[in-house]
Amino acid sequence: MHIGPIELPNALFVAPMAGVTDRPFRMLCRSLGAGYAVSEMVTSKRELWKSLKTSRRADHEGEPAPIAVQIAGVDPAEMADAARYNIDRGAQVIDINMGCPAKKVCNKWAGSALMQDEPLATAIVEAVVAACAPQGVPVTLKMRTGWCAAERNAVRLARAAESAGVAMVTVHGRTREQGYTGQAEYDTVAAVKAALKIPVVANGDIHSPEKAREVLRATGADALMIGRAAQGRPWIFREILHFLATGEHLPPPATHEVRRWLVEHLHQHYGLYGEHIGVRSARKHIGWAVRALPGGESFRAEMNLIDDTTTQLRAVSHYFEALAERHPLLPQPVLGPVPGAANDETGTEAEAQAA
Ligand SMILES: Cc1cc2nc3c(=O)[nH]c(=O)nc-3n(C[C@H](O)[C@H](O)[C@H](O)COP(=O)(O)O)c2cc1C
Repeated sequence: MHIGPIELPNALFVAPMAGVTDRPFRMLCRSLGAGYAVSEMVTSKRELWKSLKTSRRADHEGEPAPIAVQIAGVDPAEMADAARYNIDRGAQVIDINMGCPAKKVCNKWAGSALMQDEPLATAIVEAVVAACAPQGVPVTLKMRTGWCAAERNAVRLARAAESAGVAMVTVHGRTREQGYTGQAEYDTVAAVKAALKIPVVANGDIHSPEKAREVLRATGADALMIGRAAQGRPWIFREILHFLATGEHLPPPATHEVRRWLVEHLHQHYGLYGEHIGVRSARKHIGWAVRALPGGESFRAEMNLIDDTTTQLRAVSHYFEALAERHPLLPQPVLGPVPGAANDETGTEAEAQAA
């Protein structure tokens, strides 16, 4: 699997999720099998580049190549500038966001709202490709199936993007109108795949190895991208890789290993955000990690009252040590859609924060 000249170790990607896929989480997913990870979106608004939020997002220290940065905006020249700015800070792939349904972004006509204005969407793609080409940096595009059920224009837009020089297209099988409701459909993803020569990535509702195989078969896609199902379960990447390669399931991870991954993730998280924000923003990751485990709900409620990183880390460690005594292998819930994380609010709220 290639993006332009860049070879990837495999064809299983972690989706960009604002407020979730920061550098520590991307690195965790990469270490557990994901072959590629895209940053949370970075605004094209120059006045915000120096903000703490944007500088954190532009921090790629220690991240394995290729560094891929997603940019969001509505103005072709600004988007081209944003691409150059991120390339100067280490980006090796620039991804254009036309998939985000958040109102804050859509009111500004960015994200998936751009799908409604094909000439502007194409002008943005052309400007970003022109900015990246001299540096040899490939440009990719992430989109939905269309603006609404009556206007599924993904194939037309993907063709225009390919003609403009885009190296890969990812399609989330929902329209903008759907937000995160309903089910992802894969017919439109298959139609995009059939229409293009460049690699096409299928995304939406892939939450198990079986579903991964089904989506690959249904779409013929070159790669799969997984978002919400990796929240609290980043080892899903190696589970899916193993299943696609052998047709067999890996056993659940050892509970002490899960503890070690989470503790290491928390160290990295606190390192990026510091004590005050770190302890608070880590709660969602811990909550996702324990949500389906025995005693997980009450642990989460207690943990949400903890206000310092040392106590939080100790509590997490104790919880998993106690669990490991009773369950050497992690008790796995029946795999299914991600509860709580799969609703419109979670997605759009966090995405809106990024605008
Ligand atoms: C919390 C959250 C934040 C997201 N942020 C972004 C983003 O910054 N850029 C983007 O292109 N998509 C974003 N998405 C959409 C995901 O990349 C993905 O397309 C979507 O969640 C469907 O995949 P899934 O069913 O595997 O989660 C976000 C989704 C969630 C749930």
